[in-house]
Amino acid sequence: MKKTQGNWESSSSSHFITIEGIEGVGKSTAITFIRDWLTEHGLSVVVTREPGGTEVAEEIRRVLLNTHKEPIYPETELLLLFAGRMQHIQEVIKPALQAGKTVLCDRFIDASYAYQGGGRGISDHFIQMLEQEILQGLQPNLTLLLDAPYHVSQLRLQQRSHTDRIESEHEAFFQRVRAKYLKRAEQSPERYRVINAALPLPKVQRQMKEVLHDFF
Ligand SMILES: Nc1ncnc2c1ncn2[C@@H]1O[C@H](COP(=O)(O)OP(=O)(O)O)[C@@H](O)[C@H]1O
Ligand SMILES: [Mg+2]
Repeated sequence: MKKTQGNWESSSSSHFITIEGIEGVGKSTAITFIRDWLTEHGLSVVVTREPGGTEVAEEIRRVLLNTHKEPIYPETELLLLFAGRMQHIQEVIKPALQAGKTVLCDRFIDASYAYQGGGRGISDHFIQMLEQEILQGLQPNLTLLLDAPYHVSQLRLQQRSHTDRIESEHEAFFQRVRAKYLKRAEQSPERYRVINAALPLPKVQRQMKEVLHDFF
């Protein structure tokens, strides 16, 4: 059976799940756990990420995350992200959903509102315009927001040898990003589940299991 979402048609057995949150909060760790849970429950899972997810989008990711001598303006950042997102939707997300698969994505549209909106100060109006044109009504069915205070995520990031252009932003930037994520979660409670990611891993995983149980 087919279901429609905006201008998109996908299989009724497909699900689009996104994981959001600031750097170091535990998204990659959560993705592995959720992928295993979904697979154990008989779902065919496609794991992907933004920025990136296709050959061209991964090249765009490099431009976004590398440090350059020239500044990258907020609007440039936003447009590059949406350029990569277009490739990602067409090449990976849409075909997988049409084939009845569950797409598990490390960051998606909410990250643009949180980072380029909350973090960089671009208006929601500008982002909404791009969202309308590029997503054409495509929305995640479920978004897990991993939330933890800045200092917790920073502590976890200390084990990382290299920090990219965005990871090296200052505390105030990440505070704005986190606040915007929480605001969006409050505005869309039907789609968002906020996970307290500051807790030890087993407790984080227990919360994720509960969310998955409720959702499926
Ligand atoms: N709940 C947790 N408690 C303690 N450490 C964690 C927890 N979740 C993840 N970590 C660790 O924190 C670091 C960052 O996690 P990661 O999943 O890479 O974050 P992200 O993908 O959000 O940047 C990793 O070393 C990971 O093992
Ligand atoms: Mg990660």
